[in-house]
Amino acid sequence: MPYPPELRELMKKVEETRPSRVNVHYPRMTPEERAQVLKEYHPDFMEEAFRPLQVGVDRGVRLPLEMADIFEADSRLLSAELDLEHPEFDVDVLVIGGGGAGAAAALEAFSLGRKVLLATKLRLGDANTMMAQGGIQAADKPQDSPAIHYLDVMGGGRFENRPELVRALVRDAPGVIAWLERMGAMFDKDEEGRMITIHGGGTSRKRMHTARDYTGAEIMRTLRDEILNRGVEYIEFCPALELLLDEKGRAAGAVLFNLETESCHVVRARTVILATGGSGRLHYQGFPTSNHYGATGDGLVIAYRAGARTAFADSIQYHPTGGAYPPQLLGLLVTEKVRSLGATPINVRGEQFVYHLETRDVEASAIIRECRRGLGVPLPTGTAVWLDSPLIELTHGQGTIERQLPAMLRQFARFGIDIRKEPMLIYPTLHYQNGGLAIDENGATTVENLYAAGEVAGGIHGRNRLMGNSLLDILVFGRRAGRHAAEKSAEIRPGRLSLEHVYRYQEELEARGLAGQRVSPVLLPRYTHGAGDK
Ligand code: FUM
Repeated sequence: MPYPPELRELMKKVEETRPSRVNVHYPRMTPEERAQVLKEYHPDFMEEAFRPLQVGVDRGVRLPLEMADIFEADSRLLSAELDLEHPEFDVDVLVIGGGGAGAAAALEAFSLGRKVLLATKLRLGDANTMMAQGGIQAADKPQDSPAIHYLDVMGGGRFENRPELVRALVRDAPGVIAWLERMGAMFDKDEEGRMITIHGGGTSRKRMHTARDYTGAEIMRTLRDEILNRGVEYIEFCPALELLLDEKGRAAGAVLFNLETESCHVVRARTVILATGGSGRLHYQGFPTSNHYGATGDGLVIAYRAGARTAFADSIQYHPTGGAYPPQLLGLLVTEKVRSLGATPINVRGEQFVYHLETRDVEASAIIRECRRGLGVPLPTGTAVWLDSPLIELTHGQGTIERQLPAMLRQFARFGIDIRKEPMLIYPTLHYQNGGLAIDENGATTVENLYAAGEVAGGIHGRNRLMGNSLLDILVFGRRAGRHAAEKSAEIRPGRLSLEHVYRYQEELEARGLAGQRVSPVLLPRYTHGAGDK
């Protein structure tokens, strides 16, 4: 759907001011201005969109309404008849989730000689990892260091991050890039064979390693090939419905639901790693999302019922540049790499209104503010601002977009929009769950023998993650969790499998009048409503 005449008319204002913006940087906000715009416009500050949890170990903790709803829901297994005495699978390490974190964890545990089973809700690699575009951070160049990376991560997270987790993240980062390269990942390099690295919002050094604008797909391809080549056992279309605990309350397995046969599988495991990803498909505050279809917060729910504590679960990331036009691209990611290469946000008058590489929380809030002030571009689906991509070609030369952003170029070309010549229309989209399950630097949760890695875990990024630190954290903490779960599994004698914790949680729901309203985990989002829907 090419731009209609009325949008072409408005676009003229962007074209008029473009020459004055080449190689001219808009001023960055002061710390006070950042704090102000966040408070007034960031969705995390909209108090009416949150409520305190009424049940479980984090009772009283503030959560987004949609997340609190799935925590305060009935289990899918309340009346299921399961033979817990005779599990179908008996493994050392069960990994739940088949994205980057799960694959990394499974590979690491497998390489330590443990019997591993990876169970995934959809297909191996169907995850947000695959959809990550812009890059992966690692301080592996002479002008940079893990200490500088550390400061950037802390600053981006508003200094609320758990320091020991950030330390692990930045220290392991160079090793992660080397590990990926050894397995065959192909990052962008210059003619001398040196890694090309670029900036992201909030980075003080160029440390973003990229594979064009499909970095996540390249990383997931590499991990998936390795899983297949090494023969790690995995089962697809089998989400977990609940964790199983032993008589001491330690994680001891899970009940999986086979989406194809609609039957349950009981898995006994000495240790369990949750790598189930985020929850963007809960559409907090009605936002569209850049997330994978499977991102429904399942791991959070089943771990919480088992007694795992959360950290920063009320902190959600809205990516500043979600697609806003054409409607088919609503909420889909327009990678931050577009801004890294110099594209700037522009209002309906053709004016830039924010520095293009503020941290995501600030950039998104400034865009929301501009639209609320009536300076957005009116669309049938809401308002938006321009992202002036043709500026990239003026700054770095013709052919840059084709070379560096081939996926973006094709994505818009399918609708008759040439982003080399025409700006994009964007608005913030629900992108990432900054918080999740509380973990230590080995990925251990507060439930013994239960680990978490990737977006399901919280604390690494504080209240706002920087671009490229998610592809990094899934691998750092996936590998750490895999290693520690494997080592721990050697010490464990399996106990009796039980769902007692689920029944106790249900009693708590009933005591508070919350039972019988909905069920979770959600498993798959529903975009239609039919008879029998709750
Ligand atoms: O904008 C992006 O390419 C997203 C990257 C990320 O979330 O790290």
